[in-house]
Amino acid sequence: MKSGLLTIVDELKRLRKSGIETIYVSESSLQKLRSASRSAEDLEKRDAEAAIASIPENIRSAKGEELEKLLTSQASSKAVGSSSPKESGVPNPPNVVLPDGAKEERWEFLRETVLNCPTCNEHVRSGYKIVFGVGDINADIFFCGEAPGADEEEQGEPFVGKAGQLLNKMIQAMGLERKDVYIGNIMNWRPELPSRIGNRPPTPEEMAFCLPYLKAQVEVVQPKLIVALGATAAKGLLGAQAFRSLREIKGQWQDFDGTPVLPTYHPSYLLRNNTNRDKRAAWEDLLKVMERAEMPISDRQRNFFL
Ligand code: URA
Repeated sequence: MKSGLLTIVDELKRLRKSGIETIYVSESSLQKLRSASRSAEDLEKRDAEAAIASIPENIRSAKGEELEKLLTSQASSKAVGSSSPKESGVPNPPNVVLPDGAKEERWEFLRETVLNCPTCNEHVRSGYKIVFGVGDINADIFFCGEAPGADEEEQGEPFVGKAGQLLNKMIQAMGLERKDVYIGNIMNWRPELPSRIGNRPPTPEEMAFCLPYLKAQVEVVQPKLIVALGATAAKGLLGAQAFRSLREIKGQWQDFDGTPVLPTYHPSYLLRNNTNRDKRAAWEDLLKVMERAEMPISDRQRNFFL
């Protein structure tokens, strides 16, 4: 059993090296892990600690049942194990027709439409919330993320967790406040997983379903530009085939139905890669955003993270 666990650990290390940070573990694999970890209790303490130390960062401190729980919650599009995450199918994307009228009314209509969307309601966890965009409906800058996480589905607002706190700081570094920009997500619900811990990226079908709601928000707000936060948001806006790696288009202006889009790092990426080099690379994108939005830029701002 010990060699079985170490094989899993080696496989997890291999996946992490190849850039995969989250994995999906099927129910049957979990059963095996459960019995493996029960047997592991019999291992000498030294060996067990060595095995745990080899587990990827986010599950490193977990043991036994806690480890099982965390493994249950991990998921990604590159599934490990035989079955895919519980994703009930989504219907064809909705046809959103905005009413004529004042901006506020159009936005309110759209918000009500999304909050009452049967598919969104079917997918959102019981007791949690659909997440619609927030901010200034007259904003020049529209930040677009991927999908709500645990904090967002609790509060019904995009970017309110740790990534949101960093996004707020990025906005402040630009000389703005959160209320001065518009913030939305490709997805209006948190992609489902068997437990509340962990996140998985939305499927292309899920993103295609929610995209008309995002498009309609752009149509109402009419921002000067959109900042796509991370590869998934960029794929949602530009199409899954538009690029393979974010590196190919990061910091280069793209187009979403006539609105300029600048793809940059997701704040969660910056939380994980907290180096001055990455911060500067993200900041240079935000300087481009400020220039395109015709915002004043001080010398001090130009030199952030140099
Ligand atoms: N990450 C996102 O992409 N969107 C959120 O709303 C929160 C975290």
